[in-house]
Amino acid sequence: MKVYLETMGCQMNRLDSELVTDSLLAAGHEMIDNRPDADVVLYNTCSVRQHAEEKVYSRLGGDTRRKAHHKPRQILGVLGCMAQREGAELTNRFNGLNIVCAPGQLSRLPELIAAAAEGNRVVALDASRIEASRDAKSSSADSASADEVAFDAMDLARNYNHASPRTQAYVRVMKGCDNFCTYCIVPFVRGPERSRRPERILQEVSHLVEAGVSQVTLLGQTVNRYRFSDNAQTTRFSDLLAEVSDVPGLRRLRFVTSHPLDFTDDILHVMAERENICEYIHVPPQSGSDEVLRRMNRKYTRAQYDNLVDQAREIVPGVVLAGDFIVGFPGETEADHETSAELIRRSGFKNSFVFKYSPRPGTAAARTMLDDVPDEVKRRRNHELLAVQNEVGLAHHQSYIGETIEVLVEGPSVRADRQGFEPTPERTQLASRSRGEHIVHFIGPEKLTGQYVNVHITGATALGLQGDRQPGEE
Ligand code: SAH
Ligand code: SF4
Ligand code: F3S
Repeated sequence: MKVYLETMGCQMNRLDSELVTDSLLAAGHEMIDNRPDADVVLYNTCSVRQHAEEKVYSRLGGDTRRKAHHKPRQILGVLGCMAQREGAELTNRFNGLNIVCAPGQLSRLPELIAAAAEGNRVVALDASRIEASRDAKSSSADSASADEVAFDAMDLARNYNHASPRTQAYVRVMKGCDNFCTYCIVPFVRGPERSRRPERILQEVSHLVEAGVSQVTLLGQTVNRYRFSDNAQTTRFSDLLAEVSDVPGLRRLRFVTSHPLDFTDDILHVMAERENICEYIHVPPQSGSDEVLRRMNRKYTRAQYDNLVDQAREIVPGVVLAGDFIVGFPGETEADHETSAELIRRSGFKNSFVFKYSPRPGTAAARTMLDDVPDEVKRRRNHELLAVQNEVGLAHHQSYIGETIEVLVEGPSVRADRQGFEPTPERTQLASRSRGEHIVHFIGPEKLTGQYVNVHITGATALGLQGDRQPGEE
């Protein structure tokens, strides 16, 4: 069958889509980009903010209407976090919806599509979860349990030898989250935190590198909380980083997203010692105010966050930091908001994502706190934090002017008609990434895509760098 799959969430969600694609191709399906022509339309969804969900509702509204009138046999499916959050509610609301499949059930998708083709409606959900404390149950004990093989079978079965070889890949090191930040839906939709066996992560990375991948990004909702215990031996995140960095041929090793509480010095030291571990840390503070952090259940104080930034700058030379913030969390005052702006300045972030607080049904904040910051105030605070981040980001990027840095070329960067000159395969605007995750634009031949080159930095904006390819390099 012809399958259209659209991905709407985070990196985890994107990796899931990639693994799903591999399994559907292996089952004999064909992937297409054109939604109306598809026999099967799938959305891999996100529940983190209401806005993300609204997009899916509007897509499904259109799809189910079109299906009723023109395409009665088309199969419609919702995968991922929204599927888990809403479950059968979705099929009640959208009559033409055939498949609802939670993140932990994605390996069953070929089977669910076959069932839907027979005319069945299928809802495959993970065990539901109520709030628990982070310390209630050790996640390492969980990770050694009997069902662990099923847990990463899909990851290991990925297609390592794509028709078009690639340079970079994501690798999951853990699933779920036990943090229960009061605003966040992720622990409910992604289930308990479990770390993968280190040998299996290494096996996956080795296969990817053999297939031509040279940059690997380790993924987890709190990736630096990775911990796996087997008998007497415990592998901490710093141990895992060291082991993965030893895989021959791996040129760049990255990881996202980190939680400030779990960023211990052993991780910083391993980053400093290992040449191929990139000096980039995405470690969201969410707020600069102790009072807000406490209500968010982030479990660290402002002073601890500041200390982490100082340690990172001291131990990892040239470290690049990035953050996330939520504005308008219940009870956030102007004074609280100011502390977030001040935190951006103090930390010197390369970039920050800023989100307006969105109450998520079932979370502690939605149940027990009034969403009392008016939307126009959220919007203003959002703009204000972004304006501060732009200032800080510009200064950060300007500090690279005159330097020569190694970049990995991602490909042509803007539409041909916006380049300001007639692009040719030999001369076009390319987008690339530094080790510090900076976006770097320069002019060069398209064939550099997927290669590492040195670029001399000549200009900067709040969001990125421009430069020239080093003369004499081919
Ligand atoms: N695991 C990651 C974050 C996952 S969600 C971490 O702990 O850092 C990505 C970002 O979305 C978060 O960092 C947070 O800034 C934002 N976010 C999560 N829930 C939100 C909500 N209810 N409203 C607004 N933003 C939210
Ligand atoms: Fe959500 Fe907090 Fe877990 Fe991140 S650490 S996924 S913000 S609960
Ligand atoms: Fe969204 Fe699920 Fe990722 S809620 S942020 S797609 S884990």
